[in-house]
Amino acid sequence: MNKEKNIKLGLSFDDVLLVPKFSKITSRKLINLKTNFSRNIKLNIPIVSANMDTVTESDMAIAMAVAGGIGIIHRFMDIDQQVGQVRRVKRSENLVISDPVTINKEVNLGSALRVMENSHTTAILVCDKDNFLEGILTARDVRFKSDMNLKIANLMTPLKKLITAPENTSQKEALEILDKYKIEKLPLVDKKGKLVGLITSKDFLKLKGGQNSAKDRRGRLLVGAAVGVKDGMERAKKLVSAGVDALVIDIAHGHHVRAINLLKNLKKEFKNVDVVAGNVATATGAKDLILAGADAVKVGIGPGAACSTRIVAGAGVPQITAIFECSEIGRKYNIPIIADGGIKNSGDLAKAIAAGGSAAMIGNLFGGTKESPGEYFIENGAAFKIYRGLASREASPDRDRAPEGISTKVSYRGEVKNILRLLVDGLQSGMSYSGADSIKKFWNQAEFIRITDAGMKESLPRP
Ligand code: XMP
Repeated sequence: MNKEKNIKLGLSFDDVLLVPKFSKITSRKLINLKTNFSRNIKLNIPIVSANMDTVTESDMAIAMAVAGGIGIIHRFMDIDQQVGQVRRVKRSENLVISDPVTINKEVNLGSALRVMENSHTTAILVCDKDNFLEGILTARDVRFKSDMNLKIANLMTPLKKLITAPENTSQKEALEILDKYKIEKLPLVDKKGKLVGLITSKDFLKLKGGQNSAKDRRGRLLVGAAVGVKDGMERAKKLVSAGVDALVIDIAHGHHVRAINLLKNLKKEFKNVDVVAGNVATATGAKDLILAGADAVKVGIGPGAACSTRIVAGAGVPQITAIFECSEIGRKYNIPIIADGGIKNSGDLAKAIAAGGSAAMIGNLFGGTKESPGEYFIENGAAFKIYRGLASREASPDRDRAPEGISTKVSYRGEVKNILRLLVDGLQSGMSYSGADSIKKFWNQAEFIRITDAGMKESLPRP
C-alpha cells in the first residue's frame, strides 16, 4: 500500500488565525469565561497550571484557584509530600476553623480573659467536657465587669440564644446567615449539638480570592494532583482522603493499555473524584479514554515548550489538529478536552479554546513566576528560574529510555496573577473578534483560516 497518499495534514497554532466576525459585544467584561475542567468540576477561567515539577506546587495551585482556574500538583515527590501540598491548598482559603478555642462554663472571668488574649479573639465558645456547645462569651458580655471571679456560666450568651448552623453549611449559606443576623461568629454543630467548627465574619473579609475564585462546595479552593502508573492507586487513595478534587493521570502516551487500566481502577475505587486521563492526540485515543471512564481528556503529544518527543521519537500531532479531532469526540460524549502544551501567548490560548478546548494547560508561561517551585538565580544581572520537561534527564534521572524533554532557564516574571490577567484579557479579546460572549459560542462561531509562512511573518510585530 502506498501510505504516502493517506498522509493527513496537521496544523499547529502558528498555521492558523481566527477570522474576525461581526460582533455585538460592547465590553470585554460581558464575556463569560466559565467552563468545565472535567465532568463535575467547573472553573471561572479556562486555565490550568501544568503538573510539572518546575510549575505547580501549592503556591501556584492557590494562585490558579484564586484567579478562577486550577493547578495540578506534580507527582515528582513522596506521596506524603504531595498530600501535604494538596492539604495546604485546601486549607488556604478555608473559612471553617475546625478546632476553635473553647472554655468551660465553670471557669472564671479572669481565666477566660487570659484565653481570649492568648488566642487573639474577642469571642470564645463555651463547651462542656464532651465538646457540646453551651454558649458564647463575647467582649460585649464582659465589657463592664470588673470582678474576675465571676463564673462564665452567668456571663455568657447561652445556647438557646445562639445562632448556629449544621456542619456541612456552604460558604455562601454561612455568609447569608452572618449577614442576616448581623453576627460575627457562626458555630457549626453536628446533629447532636457537638461543636465541629466555627466560621467568622472577619475571615470572610480576609479572603484573597474575590467572587471569581474556583472553589468546592465547602468554599475551599479547587486543586488537582497527578498520579502515575507505578504507585497511582496508593497515591490516589491518600490524595483523595486529603480532599483533592481531581486526579490527573500523568502518562506521556495515554493511549496505552496501562493508562486505560489505571483509569478504570481509579474510577472503580474513587467514585466522587473526577479523573482526567491523557495525554492523547487522536480522536480514537480520546474515545478510548472516554469509554474507559475519563471525566476529561488531556490532549497534546509533543507541543510543549520543554518537549523533545517529536524530535526523539518522531511521534506527535500538531496541536490545533489534535484539539480539533479530540474535541469533536469530547463534544459527542459531553466530556471536556484540556488542551495541553504549546501555548506561547494569549493568542494561542484563544486558538486552543476556539478549536474546542474547554480549558488549556500551561507550563512554560508560568515557569518563571514567583509561585513556581524553586528559587530564582541571577546571571549577568538578570533573574531566571529553571523550567524543565518531566521526561528530561534532570527531572527523571532514573528514566530507562532516552530523555524526551529538555531543561532550560526562563526569565523571572514576578507574580503569576499578572500573566494570568494578560492571558484572560487576550482570550476575551479573541472571543470578541469572533462575536462570542461565552466559550460555548466561541466553539460554534469561531472560524479558522490557514496561513502561510508569509502570513505568519506578517503577523509578527516589526520595527
Ligand atoms: P508548555 O508548552 O505550556 O507545555 O510548557 C506544558 C506541557 O508539556 C508537556 N511536557 C512534556 N512533554 N516531554 C514531553 O514530550 C517532557 O519532558 C515534558 N514535560 C512536560 C506536559 O504535557 C505539560 O503539561
